[in-house]
Amino acid sequence: MLYYRLAPPCAQSKDPHTMTQLIGISGSLRRASFNSALLRAAVGLMPPDAQLEVGTIRGIPLYDGDIEATQGIPASAAVLKETIVAADGVLLVTPEYNNSIPGVFKNALDWLSRPPADAKRVFGGKPFGLIGASPGQFGTTLSQAAWLPVLRTLGTRAWFGGRLMVPRAGQAFDEAGALKDDAVKEQLRQFLLGFVAFVRERGPQEPK
Ligand SMILES: Cc1cc2nc3c(=O)[nH]c(=O)nc-3n(C[C@H](O)[C@H](O)[C@H](O)COP(=O)(O)O)c2cc1C
Repeated sequence: MLYYRLAPPCAQSKDPHTMTQLIGISGSLRRASFNSALLRAAVGLMPPDAQLEVGTIRGIPLYDGDIEATQGIPASAAVLKETIVAADGVLLVTPEYNNSIPGVFKNALDWLSRPPADAKRVFGGKPFGLIGASPGQFGTTLSQAAWLPVLRTLGTRAWFGGRLMVPRAGQAFDEAGALKDDAVKEQLRQFLLGFVAFVRERGPQEPK
């Protein structure tokens, strides 16, 4: 596996005056993930002049302080870090495991928060939104709540103006993973509208 000591430059190009650029990250590695499907649906429901790019936690290894000390930050984590830095806001799409954050998702964010001296550059004041889907009846209420102290600790600017939990996800998506529930689609559209407005309140990104 490749490791970067210094994060790679981000290759994104955008017009900061007209386009709000978000990065969305699903916390599931499952091929038929409801949360990845929800993120794909969000890409197609973004308001005008806003884009949602899909990032991935795939390939990020388990956090190991010895690996960090000897090899630096894994390339997969370094790339995701720079994608977050370049974005105007971040949308976390979280599953719920045992009433909390899935380990693979939290592990990924833990790598992104390293080294501590770099955490402010990546997370400081960055608008973060949270949504999630689950086959259960509460639709990730508890995992979303479990993210709150993490987002606070990282110094993000979390948006609490809207909430989206998708319960009974098996009924909301078709077999190909397309969002078929019109009510959920509208909720997602409204969530994105509110989140993008919140992101824009911050104005152009401050120089790092
Ligand atoms: C270890 C484990 C624990 C789970 N715990 C919960 C839970 O606490 N609440 C819940 O709503 N669903 C729970 N589930 C079910 C997940 O919501 C379901 O597997 C979901 O499809 C995972 O998200 P994904 O479709 O994006 O992969 C759990 C699943 C696993 C594998």
